[in-house]
Amino acid sequence: MSTFWSLFIVVLTLGSIAALVWLLLATARAKAGGAGQTTGHTWDEDLTELNHPLPLWWLGLFLLTVVFGALYLAFYPGLGANAGMLGWTSGKEVGADLAAANRKLESLFAQFRDLPLEALANDPKALDVGHNVFANNCAACHGSDARGAKGYPNLTDDDWLYGGAPEAVLTSILRGRNGVMPPLGAALGEAGVEEVANYVLSLSGRKADEKLAAAGKARYLTVCVACHGADGKGNPLIGAPNLTDDIWLYGGSLDEIKTSIRNGRSGQMPAWEPVLGKDRARLVAAWVLAQSKPVAPAGQAP
Ligand code: HEC
Ligand code: HEC
Repeated sequence: MSTFWSLFIVVLTLGSIAALVWLLLATARAKAGGAGQTTGHTWDEDLTELNHPLPLWWLGLFLLTVVFGALYLAFYPGLGANAGMLGWTSGKEVGADLAAANRKLESLFAQFRDLPLEALANDPKALDVGHNVFANNCAACHGSDARGAKGYPNLTDDDWLYGGAPEAVLTSILRGRNGVMPPLGAALGEAGVEEVANYVLSLSGRKADEKLAAAGKARYLTVCVACHGADGKGNPLIGAPNLTDDIWLYGGSLDEIKTSIRNGRSGQMPAWEPVLGKDRARLVAAWVLAQSKPVAPAGQAP
């Protein structure tokens, strides 16, 4: 706050307090002219207003508020840039609250710190905290049941873009992930996209045009093989999905597959270490691991 505005507020505040005190004293001193004296106002033809002195209890309360205001302004910030005698700031108060909360949480986290993720995934108390962290930070993208949505992976199956080992899941959470599928429409041409998309369909045993798929295979083995592998099972190091399991991040219809190939895809998983810290990230990783169940092969009950 500049000195000018600070002074402006000081003058305005002290001025209005002084004006109120003056008003109080001036009206308290004016002796009322005894019972029956009116203010001279007449309302609604015959209603008159009696002029009684202010009750003492009211005067007392008014004075108290003035004294309270003056003391408050002396001790706390309020008069322009003046910090007040106690040196209180809202920032310091939040800081103290936060430190107290962290001290309390420290004992909660300490008991989990030395346990491996596998153990945490079987510890109901750890899972409880992990579930809370998930609901507050992850559900917006992965869904409150962690089943994901188009572009946001389902975390409850055991199909992983980046691998399902506990450390891999934790790394996904701590550092974030960004899978990049380049747009290949220009390189392949529309006919090429159609062919290779049919080949992709056939990889997961789905019905595809055989002639197109055969032509697509040749293209696949030159253009796609580096990332998705010769067998189409993907590569967890770069998050290239397995194309043979009929589990789709962006949809498995011919049209959606063609769109993935033509326009590319780029899923962004934010890095959570800066937001959550390691303790919370480990607990949410444990919760995610506990949700992950093998999916039953098609046609079988789980
Ligand atoms: C802004 C949306 C968003 C939020 C919030 C988010 N994620 Fe993700 N997450 C993604 C996307 C998108 C991917 C897939 C990245 C890719 O396509 O390469 C992903 C991938 C993952 C993976 C890797 C999955 C695999 O198959 O390997 C894990 C594990 C994961 N997220 C867990 C979490 C957890 C735990 C949180 C909360 C702390 C979280 N995510 C919050 C969008 C999000
Ligand atoms: C540079 C590596 C790279 C190349 C080359 C590449 N892909 Fe991909 N592809 C990826 C990655 C990584 C993803 C996941 C993108 C994401 O997570 O957002 C992906 C995603 C896809 C998907 C979506 C899968 C789903 O589950 O929805 C399809 C389909 C696909 N690729 C097919 C192909 C085909 C066909 C080719 C060759 C014409 C190809 N890709 C070439 C890396 C690549």
